[in-house]
Amino acid sequence: MSTVITNIGELVTNDPAVSTHRGGGLAVVRDAALVIEDGAVAWTGPSSRAPAADESFDAGGRAVLPGFVDSHAHLVFAGERAEEFAARMSGEKYAAGGIRTTVERTRAASDDELRANVRRLVHEMARQGVTTVECKSGYGLTVDQEARAVRIAAEYADEVTYLGAHVVPAEYAGDAAGYARLAATDMLAACAPHARWVDVFCEEGAFDADQAREVLTAGVKAGLAPRLHANQLTQGPAVRLAVELEAASADHCTFLGDADVDALASSRTVATLLPGVEFSTRQPYPDARRLLDAGATVALATDCNPGSCYSSSMAFCIAVAVRDMRMTPAEAVWAATAGGARALRRTDVGHLAPGARADVHVLDAPSYIHLAYRPGVPLTHAVWKHGRRVKG
Ligand code: NIG
Ligand code: FE
Repeated sequence: MSTVITNIGELVTNDPAVSTHRGGGLAVVRDAALVIEDGAVAWTGPSSRAPAADESFDAGGRAVLPGFVDSHAHLVFAGERAEEFAARMSGEKYAAGGIRTTVERTRAASDDELRANVRRLVHEMARQGVTTVECKSGYGLTVDQEARAVRIAAEYADEVTYLGAHVVPAEYAGDAAGYARLAATDMLAACAPHARWVDVFCEEGAFDADQAREVLTAGVKAGLAPRLHANQLTQGPAVRLAVELEAASADHCTFLGDADVDALASSRTVATLLPGVEFSTRQPYPDARRLLDAGATVALATDCNPGSCYSSSMAFCIAVAVRDMRMTPAEAVWAATAGGARALRRTDVGHLAPGARADVHVLDAPSYIHLAYRPGVPLTHAVWKHGRRVKG
């Protein structure tokens, strides 16, 4: 079964053969067509030379991009925290402790309730052009509850991350080291078979660098690859730890010193920025310009979770990154597609070169620039995930 998408006004391919820039190197073809065959991109080129296919879709001059890659989300949870958000908007500070509220609700939920929540959010994302989703555990915080969370995440998400060391649960109050040991031993053993990644929230009020290192190195020994919640609330040691451990990504990067920026710029560790969090917590936005100018690779993701950012909108992240973080529209769209793929060490998504997974996002707009130019407007016209039409 093949499909040809014709009459594409602007095709953003991010073709790695053409686009070599570490961020902002969108490869754009005008008046293009794209052929999908067996779940993959089979051909791209000028619309006038498009080959025949079993089925055809007229893009009507619209822009077509690779599906968004949301490389950071926490979807296995129950309940919500709207009151906490309202209190923040009246001056309360965001603190890691709020996570425990969601832990209580999540522990009390049935498997099917958690499943329904993950499914709902993954569908909400797909309708907005997200075709690759990473999903973390981290609201269970017992061996059985974390194992249940990674299993449920694996049913719906493309990438699963074990985040047993999210925060110290109430039963371990005052014993972060003891809980980190559990997260690095029995809990890890129960979760590793269902996950690809291991993550730690390394921050004041959560886990210090030694505890984070213990969990991450144990995770690596168990066959997982590291990524890290780093420098979200303070200029701590987490970004440098991420680089030292050759983590795929250091996420948040809100409070950075020169040594952090230098470390990221001279490494393969992607700086994943999550502007929805700063929007929803009234923190300063991360300095994307400083990272890009230093030569770091930048990704954008939502961090969709009920506490620090209950948004699944990659378009919103792009708009904020362009308006308030001084990224160009090209840099922001690259970061939300190819950048996310790099943060997940995936070469099959985030671009539309022949051979890529057919994750195709047709915008109801003539150019990718409209994602930032028309903030808050739903611009997703049609979506294919792995060659299967999921919207439009
Ligand atoms: O990435 N910072 C740690 N974890 C999440 C927030 C989780 C929550 O507040 O429930 C984050 O921001
Ligand atoms: Fe997070």
